[in-house]
Amino acid sequence: METNEILEQLRVNAPARIEQAGTVEELEDLAAEITGKRSPIAAGRRSLGSAPQEQRRDLGRAINDVAVELNALIDSRRVVLEAIEASQALESDRVDVTLPGRIPLRGTTHLIQQVMDEIVDIFVSMGYTVATGPEVETEFYNFTALNFPVAHPTRLESDTLYLDYGDDPEGVLLRTHTSPMQARYMEEHDPPVYLVVPGRVFRRDPVDSTHSPVFHQIEGLAVDTDITFGDLKGVLDHFAREFLGPDITTKFIPHHFPFTEPSAEMHVYANGRWMELLGCGMVHPAVFEAVGYDPDEVTGFAFGMGADRLAMVRHGITDLRHLFDPDRRILEQYR
Ligand code: PHE
Repeated sequence: METNEILEQLRVNAPARIEQAGTVEELEDLAAEITGKRSPIAAGRRSLGSAPQEQRRDLGRAINDVAVELNALIDSRRVVLEAIEASQALESDRVDVTLPGRIPLRGTTHLIQQVMDEIVDIFVSMGYTVATGPEVETEFYNFTALNFPVAHPTRLESDTLYLDYGDDPEGVLLRTHTSPMQARYMEEHDPPVYLVVPGRVFRRDPVDSTHSPVFHQIEGLAVDTDITFGDLKGVLDHFAREFLGPDITTKFIPHHFPFTEPSAEMHVYANGRWMELLGCGMVHPAVFEAVGYDPDEVTGFAFGMGADRLAMVRHGITDLRHLFDPDRRILEQYR
């Protein structure tokens, strides 16, 4: 075929093909085919050398005109295709900020911990400080310093979990209450003392709806120059209202603890019945003596309450075992 004919075909056919190229990639392939190294235009230019002298100039101009015309079409189509592809990329990479987020699984403190934190906060707001003590305790701090007689029945292995550990002359055990921290704290600090001690305690009790060998207490101790039983009642009554609501009624009935005298239990009237909430009393002079305080100089009160029981009372939980059940359907009710 004559070079002129080939050029004429290109001039006729190529514009429509350029216009139909749907992507930049397609267009580049087409451009290579039309104007690249193996294109008819390149071949035409190579053939110029062997063309007759008198035709060379016209033929060269004709090749050039076609090349310029088609390159212009290719360039303008490229601008269009690049714009289309850029806006498609924007569309497909778009982030929809109105979609709901993925909610991560959220842990939470257990109801017992929540209740302990809340109780501690109520006393902190009255000026008390917080301390914690060892769960593995000596028989001295757990019983002897607290005026328990040597033969007191709760010292027995039937009630208390002893450990075969260390060489303490009196023995080592899992503390049966948080009261040993009364003695430990007073040994280390001079009066006045306003202290709460949250913690885990242990007793040799079989599990049932109201008992567990592991449970939680919050101990309280107030020692100053003229603390009275009236102060004890005022503080604990205030606590009960803060924790259970302003409409509850409290009463104090006589009880016995070796480390307080007089001793009492505080009961509350809530949900239509009376319930025991805690043990309390005025610190026994023998305890002051055991820790090096002068019982003629100071007086004080102490109390101990079960956090698990308080959680049950306030949340209407009828079986203590629910609190130790890892079933999330139960636990998630108290987030
Ligand atoms: N430690 C006692 C108990 O566990 C409670 C208590 C604490 C009583 C402080 C009086 C004073 O039952």
